[in-house]
Amino acid sequence: MTRTYIAPNFQGTLFRNPPMSETAKLILDGKEYELPVVVGSENEKAIDITKLRDITGYVTLDSGYKNTGATKSNITFLDGETGILWYRGYPIEQIAEYATFLEVAYLLIYGELPTEKELNYFTSSIRNHTLVHEDMKRFYEAYPTGAHPMGVLSSMIASMSTFYPESLNPNRPFKDIELTMHRLMAKMPTLAAQAHKVSIGHPIMYPKNSYSYTENFLHMMFALPTFDYEVDPVVDDALNKLLILHADHEQNCSTSTVRMVGSSQSNLYSSISAGIAALWGPLHGGANQAVIEMLERIKADGGDVAKWVAKAKDKNDSFRLMGFGHRVYKNFDPRAKIIKKACDDVLNKLGIHDPVLDIAKQLEEVALKDEYFVERKLYPNVDFYSGIIYRAIGIPTEMFTVMFALGRLPGWIAQWKEMIEQGEPIGRPRQIYTGANLRDYVPLAKRG
Ligand code: SDX
Repeated sequence: MTRTYIAPNFQGTLFRNPPMSETAKLILDGKEYELPVVVGSENEKAIDITKLRDITGYVTLDSGYKNTGATKSNITFLDGETGILWYRGYPIEQIAEYATFLEVAYLLIYGELPTEKELNYFTSSIRNHTLVHEDMKRFYEAYPTGAHPMGVLSSMIASMSTFYPESLNPNRPFKDIELTMHRLMAKMPTLAAQAHKVSIGHPIMYPKNSYSYTENFLHMMFALPTFDYEVDPVVDDALNKLLILHADHEQNCSTSTVRMVGSSQSNLYSSISAGIAALWGPLHGGANQAVIEMLERIKADGGDVAKWVAKAKDKNDSFRLMGFGHRVYKNFDPRAKIIKKACDDVLNKLGIHDPVLDIAKQLEEVALKDEYFVERKLYPNVDFYSGIIYRAIGIPTEMFTVMFALGRLPGWIAQWKEMIEQGEPIGRPRQIYTGANLRDYVPLAKRG
């Protein structure tokens, strides 16, 4: 049963079922089976194995799901071979150039670019929910000094479900679900900034609702009771662009985690909290922190780029070129191209010369000519340059992945909502057992 939520003032269905066409033939143990082929709106093709085990007794095996489609989705399209990324059909290059982050959040969540009336509704609703329950401030007293903000944020978001028990049922009327989505969009920046302020021993700054979404975050991060932080338009624009570029990326590790947790009918707060935890890993969103730490390490080591590229290629060396490579992009990550240009713009406008940017550019130049990287189609990804801009803005390194989470939040929400709308079953993959065969219990005294 598929239900369609109707966004405020938006009429029509939010998603389309792609046509079924052709079939795939499978021969197993001398028997021939036909499996349906699904063709997406951009001609991606999949063999639908929903009934495979029922009709053949076989399951498929695909460690890391490198060849497995987990769902049908209308939210984001990316083509790794040609470096294409669209949000609801709009190219990332245009979206990043002309849209605001809240416009993009609305597009991802509701399915269409908002009219002025819809954007005002969305913006004012979020503005009215930026405060966090005062009791949550006490949580910070329990964290050790230097607690990583991703650990704090993941816990605080999960704890929000305890303050809003009505959010525990994901099948409530749309208006209730919408309120939870807006609360998350409104409060996550507040919690992120609070985690930062507490980590440096500064007083927490309250949101100012006269500010825009990004201005408010910068204010909460950098203002003090004794110091009014003046938002530089260059910084505000760079932050807006960075959040947009991170807003969604189809079925990546953290988004798949959000959908998996949500598929058990767990609430949206706990699903997002799980997504934050998955994003934290250095192979995923944590790479943006790891890139800067890597560049600083190369700089401290004398900046010998060739030496570090050789280490990245050496199978006996665990060092990897962080910010390079991608599961899907086997061409340039279109976001990396946009961020690299924004890097130059922001640093020039702010009059900053950051030596690690020079090292990053040298690394890219050397790697892109090196057979090892060319052969494996390893290019800079979204994380390679983003940390340099965050640093120029004044964001501390440990907050880089929190910035990624703030950007990815509307994508996680949109994907969770689509999964609930589609009435998807609980995620429960199968396995191939390779353990011990049947054997009898051996009493302790007889185990030798
Ligand atoms: C994100 O999925 C998404 O959409 C994610 C994301 C999003 O928006 O949500 O785009 C965000 O997570 C970007 C990726 C950030 N991670 C990093 O920058 C970490 C460094 N990169 C890698 O560890 C790696 O490239 C992954 C994890 C990104 C992708 O890994 P895969 O697809 O599992 O590929 P692999 O590890 O099997 O690598 C294939 C080959 C291997 O060599 P061989 O065994 O074939 O000889 O390429 C090599 C790897 O050793 N390789 C690298 C490398 N990345 C891959 N070698 C050196 N340096 C690297 N960075």
